[in-house]
Amino acid sequence: MADSQTIETAKAHFAKILEEQLDRVERLKQDQEWTDFSKVKPIRIGILGGDGIGPSIAAEARRVLEYLLRQAADQGKVVFRDIEGLTIENRAEHMQSIPDDVMAEIKECHVTLKGPTHTPEKGDPWPNLESANVSMRKALDLFANVRPVRIPQEGIDWTFFRENTEDLYAVGSQGINVTDDLAIDFRVITTQGSERIIDAAFAHAKRNNKSRVTIVTKANIIKTTDGKFLDVARKVSQRYPDIGWDAWYIDIMTAKLLDLARRSEFQVFALPNLYGDILTDEAAQIQGGVGTAGSANIGKRFAMFEAIHGSAPRMVKEGRAQYADPSSMIRAGSMMLDHIGYPELADRLNKALDVCTQYERKLVITGRDTGATGKEFGDYIMETVESSDLESRWEGYARN
Ligand code: IPM
Ligand code: MG
Repeated sequence: MADSQTIETAKAHFAKILEEQLDRVERLKQDQEWTDFSKVKPIRIGILGGDGIGPSIAAEARRVLEYLLRQAADQGKVVFRDIEGLTIENRAEHMQSIPDDVMAEIKECHVTLKGPTHTPEKGDPWPNLESANVSMRKALDLFANVRPVRIPQEGIDWTFFRENTEDLYAVGSQGINVTDDLAIDFRVITTQGSERIIDAAFAHAKRNNKSRVTIVTKANIIKTTDGKFLDVARKVSQRYPDIGWDAWYIDIMTAKLLDLARRSEFQVFALPNLYGDILTDEAAQIQGGVGTAGSANIGKRFAMFEAIHGSAPRMVKEGRAQYADPSSMIRAGSMMLDHIGYPELADRLNKALDVCTQYERKLVITGRDTGATGKEFGDYIMETVESSDLESRWEGYARN
């Protein structure tokens, strides 16, 4: 028989979560305007190095972006700002996943480019703080985690719209050990949160002439929360009569991404946070590894762009940070260019990345002194971006 005090304590804990989440729903109902970057001058771009190899690869991505945006910078349209202090040492010192002064600087920027940050876990030497990524996504309401994966020669062109503020992540640090033997976490899915990510996926499909959106859940088992996500998809799809949609379960979806006969049929995906976390790592691996994929965390007001991999502390310990592959950060930079109103530059940069990392591969990064440094790779990208035959080289490769 459970003692009633144990149950009362757990109920009080749950009540607090309910209050916070109901307040959040009220905030979500107050629809916000999207930042119109054509009216912002200058657009402030913050650079957050992060931990481990983060500062090396962020510096490289910054160099490439500064090069591409040199004209805009001369015209006072964009400025770059370094933001220090999003390191695990500083976060541990302040016992905050994002120290207040760092957060204030982040909020002064319209967009940020962020290197990977160490995510503490039980048993490592750092205090078990909430992940800086997760805190930032929640604090800046970066609800859409957009992750493209492309393999042109296989006809693969996927864009994942991963919900970024809810699901098991929303209160992932607020689970409860009811007794020594019973642990419970809470999963949050809201109508408003589901609607905005699913709508973003459909709107993307429409803008890019895609014909289908694929919704991924496990609604046959997780009936209430995934059931809601799917119900909302049904409703949102009615606003987009020209775009088809289908629903898959996460388990079979992970298999279908490996199905050579079928996988290129998928186009745009919308899915709750954790499934999106898992499926996008798989998709990135299919493209060539998590080191090759960029990621955009987009909200109506702010946006943050990052690599999808970790901070690789071992590379730093072994003195190999300069050999880290910056291509994921540069991909993230290209998504930033697109977001802030420079889609042509973004397109050129993407094509240069395809040419350099998938086709020509004149320089290969191995992560050690057997390969190129990140800086040499940055130079290679800038050279390729500038070349007058970039378009035809890219098309030639994409066709074969
Ligand atoms: C990602 C990462 C993060 C996540 C970690 C670092 C918190 O895996 O961006 O996919 O789980 O979302
Ligand atoms: Mg992940």
